[in-house]
Amino acid sequence: MIQTTQSLISHLSCAKCETKYPHDQLQTFATCCNQPLVAHYARGPVPKPDDLAKRETSMWRYTEMLPLLDQNNRVSLGEGMTPIIPLKKLAKEANIEHLYLKDEGLNPTGSFKARGLSMAISKAKELGVTECIIPTAGNAGGALSAYCAVAGIKATIVMPRKTPLIFQQECQFYGAKLILVDGLIDECGKLAHQITQDSGAFNVSTLKEPYRLEGKKTMGYEIAEQMNWQLPDVILYPTGGGTGLLGIWKAFQEMRTLGWLTDQPLPKMIAVQTANCSPIVDLMNGIDSPPQSYTMSIANGLSVPVAFGKDMIMQVLRASNGGAMKVTEEEIKQGVYEISAKEGILISPEGAAIWQALRRLAKAQKVLPHERILLLNTGSGYKYLENLN
Ligand SMILES: Cc1ncc(COP(=O)(O)O)c(C=O)c1O
Repeated sequence: MIQTTQSLISHLSCAKCETKYPHDQLQTFATCCNQPLVAHYARGPVPKPDDLAKRETSMWRYTEMLPLLDQNNRVSLGEGMTPIIPLKKLAKEANIEHLYLKDEGLNPTGSFKARGLSMAISKAKELGVTECIIPTAGNAGGALSAYCAVAGIKATIVMPRKTPLIFQQECQFYGAKLILVDGLIDECGKLAHQITQDSGAFNVSTLKEPYRLEGKKTMGYEIAEQMNWQLPDVILYPTGGGTGLLGIWKAFQEMRTLGWLTDQPLPKMIAVQTANCSPIVDLMNGIDSPPQSYTMSIANGLSVPVAFGKDMIMQVLRASNGGAMKVTEEEIKQGVYEISAKEGILISPEGAAIWQALRRLAKAQKVLPHERILLLNTGSGYKYLENLN
């Protein structure tokens, strides 16, 4: 079922100085300030919250607030509308009454990256792109490969050599070209940039392309809708490049403007990282560490030494009265085992990290028993088994 409603996108703007950029041309990032581009929407006809229930059960149900102009360009594998599951045993253990997990591992290709790349590749198709390239920690590479396969777009994936084999193999199954790099995703980013200069391939690197954010923001819309328009008090998000966290916050702002959220406080946003690679936590503490000081994590998606959107991430953490924290590699590993055994969800290491962060917050009484807490499990644990032995 494809809806016939129209996107209300009006323009893009620089995240820093708000210079406008047109949305009907292929865009990368705001060259004026070397910052991400952010999509804006005009006022126009939108459904009432109750009417959304009649729409298709995918992230595309929010069509008006998404950037795709012609739905015939949609490249979709059924992403979004992932379940929010109560974690009863873990709630008891942490002495929290209302603990929920949104399981993004159930998306096509096994992670929330499907949302961003379904959107980015749909827009790329709409704007005539024939070749894409992406630097990735793993999940985004698989997702880009799959959506490019559907769209008939040539894909090149640049991934750290130290990524579990299955992440590498799936890209090849989807027909993408895979390039392995010694180093973390920042090194992959440098090579991808070079290849882009030489080949003219469209670079879909995190926040250097404006529409992955728009796909990921649908997590925020779904959280509101699925929780009956009463947002949780605290959201914990495993943060690498930060697009997921930024997207959820953007959705909350947009829903306020739409009148879909009544006058309620927005959740505290907590970014969770690993002790191996914690640039956002360090920045929060006033430390701007060099990228070389960070190493690979068993939570591959958290091994992001440089976040292009770091200024935006800081703004969200501060505006939401939230924060950033890190957990150890051992805690992450233990978390995967514990959540699998107690809740029946083979969670990604990134998802396990946020449970361990919450456990610490609860112990320190920095979250309170009556608060409604939402964990975002960003991916399936099935691809990480070789990290977990
Ligand atoms: C499973 C998983 N969780 C979290 C992240 C970090 O996401 P973001 O870049 O949106 O912060 C990634 C990125 O690769 C990931 O694969």
